Amino acid sequence: MTQTFKALVVSETPEGKFSTSILSRKPDELPQNETLIKVKFSSLNYKDALSASGNKGVTRYYPHTPGIDAAGVVVSCITGNFKPGDEVIVTGYDLGMNTPGGFGEYISVPSGWVVPLPEQLSLEESMILGTAGFTAALSLYHLLRCGQSPSDGPVLVTGATGGVGSLAVALLANAGFEVIASTGKLSQYEYLYMLGATTILSRDVTDDQSKRALLKARWAGAVDTVGGNTLATVLKACKMHGNVACCGNVQSPELHTTVFPFILNGITLIGVNSADTPMQLRTSIWKRLATSWKIDKLHSICRLVNLEELPLMIDEMLNGKITGRIVLKHD
Ligand SMILES: NC(=O)c1ccc[n+]([C@@H]2O[C@H](COP(=O)([O-])OP(=O)(O)OC[C@H]3O[C@@H](n4cnc5c(N)ncnc54)[C@H](OP(=O)(O)O)[C@@H]3O)[C@@H](O)[C@H]2O)c1
Repeated sequence: MTQTFKALVVSETPEGKFSTSILSRKPDELPQNETLIKVKFSSLNYKDALSASGNKGVTRYYPHTPGIDAAGVVVSCITGNFKPGDEVIVTGYDLGMNTPGGFGEYISVPSGWVVPLPEQLSLEESMILGTAGFTAALSLYHLLRCGQSPSDGPVLVTGATGGVGSLAVALLANAGFEVIASTGKLSQYEYLYMLGATTILSRDVTDDQSKRALLKARWAGAVDTVGGNTLATVLKACKMHGNVACCGNVQSPELHTTVFPFILNGITLIGVNSADTPMQLRTSIWKRLATSWKIDKLHSICRLVNLEELPLMIDEMLNGKITGRIVLKHD
């Protein structure tokens, strides 16, 4: 067992500002939970960028180590659910929020948070997916559960070059859907076509300013990672009886809409919460991601970074500049 390990630590100054540093920690500084895991890979999600910049809606107490995703090897598990050496994934629950997360080389978590790594997935691939891929897959699962079918017409993905967006484009295309990608980065059209998008729209088109209650139907369903007026626009321009999975709020957490998309067009608005997904559904989604929903282009959407490079990536994410997934590889 290691004497010390490295972790990215976010601290609050007396003036209420936040700074990050890479510190040496001791295993006994971790919470005394049931399962100790040596983290091999983590990944950067929008929630981590919020935690690292002092968002108290995500993390109440500092100093803190973010990282809502971790993939690694079990060191010990007092419940016996896992044995030393087992390869596992932990995403969501409280990891990286108020429980020290995957931006440290070790985590200590309840065994009920731990998912065995599916056989057909490597630790690295599991973190290229991470919470972003899991959320995109959960969105697809809910769309299908509500009856969305490729024959209904194209499905829109907003924030398409982001982590959830990129993986939603790829998963929907793999599942046979025609995919419209909405992006603020029109220069990334080759990337979006490579993932399987067939049409690319400027972000302005999905952020309608006309104040009309309904718009001409342009898509048959959607995965929205943006929220705010974009989600309102997505609802207004969705074809009758379409399904819209709502999973993000990078534009705004507010939603101003009339009831007309629902009572005149029969639109279903689906809430997606990845962090608290029950274990049975969680393991079944991970199994699909490793088999029938497996994305063969995973490595082409990922940039591997080390702990030292992470703070710059966090700034870029807060400025909406990231394309694809940032994966942290511990030494
Ligand atoms: N519900 C859940 O369980 C769950 C799980 C994971 C993530 N999320 C949420 O999903 C959202 C995306 O997360 P992520 O990790 O994919 O983040 P990300 O990688 O930073 O992607 C966000 C993307 O949104 C677009 N964007 C950024 N600022 C925008 C703005 N002001 N207006 C419109 N579009 C903007 C950009 O894509 P383009 O340049 O292509 O437009 C950006 O790449 C976040 O709100 C996150 O909290 C929710």
